[in-house]
This record gives sequence, structure tokens and C-alpha cells, in this order.
Amino acid sequence: MMIMEHSPDFSVRDKVVIVSGAARGLGLVFAGSLAREGAKVVLLDTSSDIAEAAANTIIEHGGQAFAAECDVTDQNQAERAVDLAISRFGAIDALVNNAGINQVGPAESVDVDVWRKVIDVNLVGAYLMSRSAAPSMISRQRGSIVNIASIHASVAPAFHCASAYATSKAGVLGLTRALAVEWGKYSIRVNAIAPGFVRTEMTRERLDDRAYLARIMDRSPIPRTIESADLIGALHYLIADASRMVTGQGLGVDGGWLAV
Ligand code: NAI
Repeated sequence: MMIMEHSPDFSVRDKVVIVSGAARGLGLVFAGSLAREGAKVVLLDTSSDIAEAAANTIIEHGGQAFAAECDVTDQNQAERAVDLAISRFGAIDALVNNAGINQVGPAESVDVDVWRKVIDVNLVGAYLMSRSAAPSMISRQRGSIVNIASIHASVAPAFHCASAYATSKAGVLGLTRALAVEWGKYSIRVNAIAPGFVRTEMTRERLDDRAYLARIMDRSPIPRTIESADLIGALHYLIADASRMVTGQGLGVDGGWLAV
């Protein structure tokens, strides 16, 4: 029956996916979920021992993975990591720019060097990794880049001061659109996921503060904390062929935060 011919392909099986900042937090959950669904995963982090332990766990569970040390702010390390992924797995299908740091403190008094560092890791790092992966994706005329932005790319952090972070993530959305337009002709798609508040090492202290959490819940249309696992559907969708005409987008996984 003609109307029942088409099924979306949500599979990430056999896709080679690089995940930066994969030693812990969201990156680790992303790497594990992709491997579980049959992707070949490259876990990059400055904490390479921990990333390597994670890769070994994935392999013990029957997945395919390896880890490499990579500081995303270093162009040579970014290029080397991409070369390693290609020599090990043959190609790159997707890149998840997840590595990130935060700095909390009033804009008038925070350390300017740390402020610059936040921009360097969150924004310049995403650019350097994307740039490093591009030649391989261009030569294959395909690829998906998923940048992990934030709700604070679009609205200011209301309950804590994080000007560098908000600035870097707004930049990530700009980069997402710019690369999507530049590289569309190569069928390279570039999208972003904008998570709301997820409890990780980055946010644990704030989210363990009951008063802070209550303010978030009060403002959130779905008054529930977001689990790392809640982001997996969006990630797999943006990597899979089901989204092959989706590019330049920021997809909020935020319980409706940005709709208010
Ligand atoms: P996390 O602090 O738990 O993990 C970040 C990972 O990135 C760590 O393993 C760290 O070693 C690595 N990393 C830091 N600098 C790096 C560098 N220069 N090169 C390579 N790796 C580096 O943080 P979390 O929460 O897992 O965050 C992951 C991403 O999600 C970040 O981009 C963050 O901004 C974003 N995000 C997190 C949210 C949350 O509520 N946790 C909300 C919105 C966005």
C-alpha cells in the first residue's frame, strides 16, 4: 500500500561518531547510548584516562569504541584526533561538539582569563573540531555535526551569573547556522541541541541547592529535572538519516523553558 511505504531511519548503527568531552557527564552518556545502538564511537577528552576506561567498558559490553586525549582548543590535537578516528574506523559520519566548561560569577568581577577560556573551549573548540572533521566529510559529501549549545544561548541565565557561558553558547548557535549554510552544498548538516538544566558535575552544586531548583521548577512548563537520557533521542535523530534535510537548527530539550 503506497501510503505505508516510508519509514524514517533513526538508526545510528555503523556510523562513526566523534564525541568531545566524553569522559563524564552528557558526553559519556552520549557515547554510551550511541555505542549501544551500534555506532563506532571515538571518545575525546582532556581526561584521557577516564575516557579510555569508558571506552573499555563500552568494548566489554560488545560495543566499538576507542578514546584519545584531545584538548579541543588545540588545533593540532583536534586534527590528530580526527586523523586517529579515520585511521581506526575508516571515516567520520558525525561529530558531537560536547566539550564545555562554565564560569559562574558577576560579570563586573570574574577573572578575565577564565572568561576567555570559556569562549575558547565552548566556541573556538567547537569550530576547531568542526573544521578538522570537515575535509573528510566534504570528500564523502555527507556528515552530521551536532553542537551542544544551551537554553542560555537564547535567554540569559536568570538565577546565576554566567556571562561568558551565555556568550559562548550564543556563539555556538551562530556557528551552527553559519557552518550549516557554508557546508550545505556538501550535504554536511550542522545542528545544535539546547539542553535545559541537567544534573552533571558541571551543575550539581547549583541543582543540589533546593531553593535554586525550586526557582527552576517554578519557571519550567514541565516541572521536572531533565535527565541526561532525555537528550539521547534528539542526538540520535540529528545524527541519523531521518533528519537528512534538517540543518542549521537548534533543538531545545528543555521542558519548554524557551517557550515561556
Ligand atoms: P561536565 O563538566 O560534566 O563534562 C564536560 C566534559 O568536557 C568533561 O569530561 C571535561 O573533561 C571535558 N572538557 C572540558 N574542557 C575540555 C577541552 N578543552 N577539551 C576536551 N574536553 C574538555 O559537563 P556536562 O554537564 O556534561 O556538559 C556537557 C556539555 O553540555 C557542555 O558543552 C555544556 O555546556 C552543555 N550543557 C550542559 C547542561 C547541563 O545542565 N549540564 C545544560 C546545557 C548545556
